[in-house]
Amino acid sequence: MQQWWRDAVLYQIYPRSFADSNGDGIGDIPGITSRLDHIAALGVNGVWLSPFYPSPWADGGYDVADFRGVDPALGTLDDFDAMVRKAHKRRLKVMIDIVPNHTSEAHPWFQEALAAGPGSPARERYVFRDGRGENGEEPPTNWRSTFGGPAWSRTSDGQWYLHMFAPEQPDLNWDDDRVREEFRGILRFWADRGVDGFRIDVAYALVKDMDEPLRDLVPVEGGRFEDILANPDHPLLDRPGVHEVYRDWRRVLSEYDPPRATVAEVWLPSDRRVRYTRPDELDQAFNFEFLEARWDADTYRQVIDASLRDARSVSTVPTWVIGNHDVVRPVSVLSLPPGTDQRAWLLSDGREPEPDLALGERRARALALLKLALPGSAYIYQGEELGLPEVADLPADALEDPRWVNSGRTDKGRDGCRVPLPWNTGGPSFGFGSNGSWLPQPSWWGRYSVEAQADVPDSMLRLYQEVLTLRENCAVDEEVRWDRRLDQGPVLAFWRGGYVLVMVNTGEVPVPLPEGEVMVASVPLEGRTLPGNSAVWLHREP
Ligand code: NOJ
Repeated sequence: MQQWWRDAVLYQIYPRSFADSNGDGIGDIPGITSRLDHIAALGVNGVWLSPFYPSPWADGGYDVADFRGVDPALGTLDDFDAMVRKAHKRRLKVMIDIVPNHTSEAHPWFQEALAAGPGSPARERYVFRDGRGENGEEPPTNWRSTFGGPAWSRTSDGQWYLHMFAPEQPDLNWDDDRVREEFRGILRFWADRGVDGFRIDVAYALVKDMDEPLRDLVPVEGGRFEDILANPDHPLLDRPGVHEVYRDWRRVLSEYDPPRATVAEVWLPSDRRVRYTRPDELDQAFNFEFLEARWDADTYRQVIDASLRDARSVSTVPTWVIGNHDVVRPVSVLSLPPGTDQRAWLLSDGREPEPDLALGERRARALALLKLALPGSAYIYQGEELGLPEVADLPADALEDPRWVNSGRTDKGRDGCRVPLPWNTGGPSFGFGSNGSWLPQPSWWGRYSVEAQADVPDSMLRLYQEVLTLRENCAVDEEVRWDRRLDQGPVLAFWRGGYVLVMVNTGEVPVPLPEGEVMVASVPLEGRTLPGNSAVWLHREP
């Protein structure tokens, strides 16, 4: 049977910010259920839910205190089961986030480890070490947390524990068989409840090289995979042993019919990333190079070719992603001059430089046509279909992202793309709930709401619906064939399935359109030209 995910479009839900059913200002599972019609009407094939597990919410729920439950603020397991049932009724697949690199400090295992003290088996589930210096007062290495500050925190008995992310997220020790066994059980727990697949958080981190002596790293400011490029033999990332974990998971997930699907978060260059998606490991990985390729034709060409080639080499397909809950929303990125330092821009509350939102929106429309034309699977982060810009001027006292505090208030973090969705043009929290929202929504939010766009033929929402419907009928093979004559300079031009010609003009100068019937265009077309910053799908014989 064809693997369902190979040409699927998945809609990413950030549960706390999607829809609030009980008026507590926090999005929840029944809220998701109540809005499944919106998702189904979009024309996607499924959803991926970011964490909804019991959590102290030190990192938006990526600090999990119980991997087998639902946070009481978000609902119950029964609510979850009902949501899955109703999604399946609408032929929507359900994928959920699995966070195997770390737990919350509130997880019973970590509490047990703290209480049991140095040298205890309970500490072996995590990465505890003695410090350097005469009295162990220095952290064991110079490693930095992704959110800023040291990657080690000290306990009251003097030992240090490792956390690649916030101090509230202690890293697990994947050399411990109890950890491996626990995650097999967690996968089965959710697969048995009917979940169709899993998104795997920091999938390339789990296994660490903790052989003594521990190695210091070349520090790289603000680095994600820059870090690993500076330290190719990184002790915490992309260790060969991590692949054994996924070969083991593959066996577990293949116990199900159909096998449960997986998509990995791996911030590595494409050729290293695809090793996670070999036939006996995971299915797919997010293509972050595409996300970072923002509006440069040569980069798109190169990324598209490399993604297809590398994915094919391991018999999988690429994914196409332009946003998620960790990055500045694409409309805003595309409205800023190339090379803008996003962190500095956010620190200026989105004023320096001034974004050209009309341009960003225009490009985002064209990018939707590009992304959804490509073979493989695509991910849409909630609100992308509404063309939401980043809320760059959130007041400092509203920020919840641990990046803010851990960076010494030099990085405002990711809250600006997590502001609860506007469903209505007005009313309390713009239809998100009945009573406010956990992050403040801007006064202009209603303009982007589902209500404001549903009946407007040229709205972003209608464009996504239209393109997704057309895509259903064009997903004929897994090839992209560049058009030798038309694909030039700032203009991308390629064929899908021998009869759909996709053209994207990333430049400013209009270019002539070849013959063919316009299936969809990102802007109204006048005559037979494709204006700058726009895209079209043409139906024609090659
Ligand atoms: C990646 C997630 O997408 C992000 O939101 C989170 O902060 C880190 N992993 C740590 O779990």
